[in-house]
Amino acid sequence: MKLFLDTANVAQVSEIASWGMLDGVTTNPSLVAKEGKDGSTSSPQVFKKTVLEMCKLVPCVSAQVTAVDSEGMIKQGKEYAAWHKHVVVKVPMTTEGLKAVSFFSKKGIKTNVTLVFSSAQAILAAKAGATIISPFIGRLDDQGEDGMGLIAEILEVWENYQFKTEVLVASTRHPRHVVDAARLGAHICTLPYDVFKKLPNHALTDNGLKKFLADWESVKK
Ligand code: G3P
Repeated sequence: MKLFLDTANVAQVSEIASWGMLDGVTTNPSLVAKEGKDGSTSSPQVFKKTVLEMCKLVPCVSAQVTAVDSEGMIKQGKEYAAWHKHVVVKVPMTTEGLKAVSFFSKKGIKTNVTLVFSSAQAILAAKAGATIISPFIGRLDDQGEDGMGLIAEILEVWENYQFKTEVLVASTRHPRHVVDAARLGAHICTLPYDVFKKLPNHALTDNGLKKFLADWESVKK
């Protein structure tokens, strides 16, 4: 399973990429806005710079269109895709979005269909030729639904067909989501920075290392 970082912060990408196992980054307009409350990060020049810096660090960077009509999405998406071959054009799961994804698919432009909350939406996006779909599990859990259950259902559907579309588990909230996604065979899981930072930690690892080093020191001449 590929692991992505869900952020618009280049320093965070650089830090986690330095661990040597980061496969990609997912951004969205809210994450971009969070990085610059004055609107600076969402200006076209700064957004492009941010995406390009991330493209130097990882092989897959989702950049979301903000147009809501297919023509606008296509215009923005073509521009993003021309920035760097690592860019994946993120498109919302709407009928306009499906039209845009179908266009991008025919042109060989990679897409990530976001805001997926049902298997029916997942099937439509895959049939339109999405490279990736992003079901938001945390937001389903937040309203009392079963987010990981949706991932299981989508992957069950995928077993019946030859969809090449990768299932990206998004809106994750804690490290257990990574394991549950991997057990189900999801292709990708994206994690916020604070959740990613928790993954390598275990108290027994820390205590074990402390004891190894103390024992080593105690016999050193
Ligand atoms: O990449 C988008 C997705 O992960 C959003 O997560 O926490 O805003 O529901 P969240």
